[in-house]
Amino acid sequence: MIRGLSVVTRDLKKSYPMGTGEVAVLKGISLEIRPGELVALTGESGAGKSTLLHILGTVDRSSGGTVLVGNENLEDRPEHVRASFRNRSVGFVFQFHHLLPEFTALENVLVPSWIQGGPENRAQERARSLLERMGLGHRLMHRPSELSGGEQQRVAIARALLQEPGLVLADEPTGNLDTHTSLEVFSLLKELNREEGMTVVLATHNTHLADLADRVIHLKDGLVGPNGTGTEDSVPAEET
Ligand SMILES: Nc1ncnc2c1ncn2[C@@H]1O[C@H](COP(=O)(O)OP(=O)(O)OP(=O)(O)O)[C@@H](O)[C@H]1O
Ligand SMILES: [Mg+2]
Repeated sequence: MIRGLSVVTRDLKKSYPMGTGEVAVLKGISLEIRPGELVALTGESGAGKSTLLHILGTVDRSSGGTVLVGNENLEDRPEHVRASFRNRSVGFVFQFHHLLPEFTALENVLVPSWIQGGPENRAQERARSLLERMGLGHRLMHRPSELSGGEQQRVAIARALLQEPGLVLADEPTGNLDTHTSLEVFSLLKELNREEGMTVVLATHNTHLADLADRVIHLKDGLVGPNGTGTEDSVPAEET
């Protein structure tokens, strides 16, 4: 089992400079995600879902408030500390998988291990087993152009999980897939979440998928909660 990381934010704010002023995107987000939880992040386009994921994943910095990932506050740490945390502990899955076209499925999954180093045999073994787990054991040597959209997205999930991250951040990972394939890809992610125990935060517009998460966190007007009250009042779904 992977040790899933908890995620806690308190009064988290993010503004972007705009002309002479600034635009407030996150206006005080307070939330708590338990280790191993699979949370769907919903909200209209522009609500700040990607912005929040980027801050949680240390890709971007907040403008105020507190962020704790695995009880660590990385907001004020220098960039190299954040980058090392990110490489070690965070796996990203994006809407457009960003696979490298000239590499095979297996090589694409191995990319994080090339960047971070570590024993090659172990990475090879894990990459193969993840791809098999994703139903792609027969596609290891295919390049992205030789894979369907759903298959490419499954490769991207395997890549995100290679280094056994405690936190997986998925930004519309099924956004460009058909309904059936979306459900299939989501279900595989959920199965891996159950088997391996990493925490997953998944931004989605798909309400059917959101309903299958342990919990939904809804963003509205820069705040959390269905009414944008700033408090998260949704409750965990019953265990299935
Ligand atoms: N670098 C930036 N500079 C200025 N404004 C930005 C920047 N990045 C995002 N924004 C603004 O922040 C708001 C939230 O954007 P974000 O991408 O987080 O929304 P989202 O909820 O992910 O939307 P979508 O569902 O369309 O992906 C938007 O209004 C956007 O214009
Ligand atoms: Mg977005």
